[in-house]
Amino acid sequence: MDDKKIIFSGIQPSGNLTLGNYLGAIRQWVNLQNDYHCIYAMMDMHTITVRQTPAELRRRTLELLALYIACGIDPEENIFFIQSHNSAHAELAWVLNCYTYMGELQRMTQFKDKSSRHAENINAGLFTYPVLMASDILLYQTDYVPVGKDQMQHIEICRDIAQRFNSIYGDVFKIPEGMLPKVGANIMSLQEPTKKMSKSDPNPKAYISMLDDMNVIAKKIKSAVTDSEGVVEYREGDDTKAGINNLLSIMSSVTGRAIDDVANDYAGKGYGDFKADVAEAVVETMRPIRAEFDRLMVDKKYLTDICAKGAESARRISGRTLAKVYKKVGFVI
Ligand code: TRP
Repeated sequence: MDDKKIIFSGIQPSGNLTLGNYLGAIRQWVNLQNDYHCIYAMMDMHTITVRQTPAELRRRTLELLALYIACGIDPEENIFFIQSHNSAHAELAWVLNCYTYMGELQRMTQFKDKSSRHAENINAGLFTYPVLMASDILLYQTDYVPVGKDQMQHIEICRDIAQRFNSIYGDVFKIPEGMLPKVGANIMSLQEPTKKMSKSDPNPKAYISMLDDMNVIAKKIKSAVTDSEGVVEYREGDDTKAGINNLLSIMSSVTGRAIDDVANDYAGKGYGDFKADVAEAVVETMRPIRAEFDRLMVDKKYLTDICAKGAESARRISGRTLAKVYKKVGFVI
């Protein structure tokens, strides 16, 4: 292998990807493909920590792959695979479960959060979710993991587990680093703009799904919550301005213009004009992606072939790490 660094990331095929996922993450991953070896997985095994409808999970997993590709991540240049196609993830997760403390897992905010939201199903998988995620990352001797801020605690525990294992057995795992998206792409809910835009929001008007029809996207932006002041101005940290701040960052993010420049265009104009322009700019950004997505979804074989090829590469790369781990802990190999 050459000296390019390894990037590993993944998304759970639960719910639809949002404009926030696109502007804050996926769009920036497109630029990584020249400088790094990038491996992206559809994290179906993580997804079942919360009950799923099987047919829907299957459909969403392939949709997620089609979306990645439609966003410009080239399947020839990057490895895409479905997590459950590589059994090494479950195997390493078992071993690392034995090197992770209950106390560490109990402190995870996502666990506390999800167990309060799914109080009827606080399963062991939800609890050990971070160990599976650590295994995902460590199997590929990953250098960088591009994730959102909310996932940094998972990267920390992954590093802790890896360092603990290495300190007992020598240098088995590369210690990975989180890679935060560039600032300015924090896209908030359209209905409660002090909250992050989330694909699992119960109110679909709060987020723009990458699979929403163009007229739905426009409608959601036009009905975004704002304020009664009527001034298009960016005021960092002012919660009463959170709605307008969010629309301004969305506009700035899709047009590539500075927030203040955008705001200046609307001096003396009302929210109606502003929202109509934001809606149009977002629709024009999403239209070609959606068209490419629709084209790809018709060709299931193309998508499943990519998964098969990706799984093979994933198994080959991760097999080396897993064999080392098995040997170190004393399994007969
Ligand atoms: N936990 C991540 C999320 O919800 C998804 C994920 C699972 C992941 N395994 C990963 C992300 C490994 C990066 C690397 O967003």
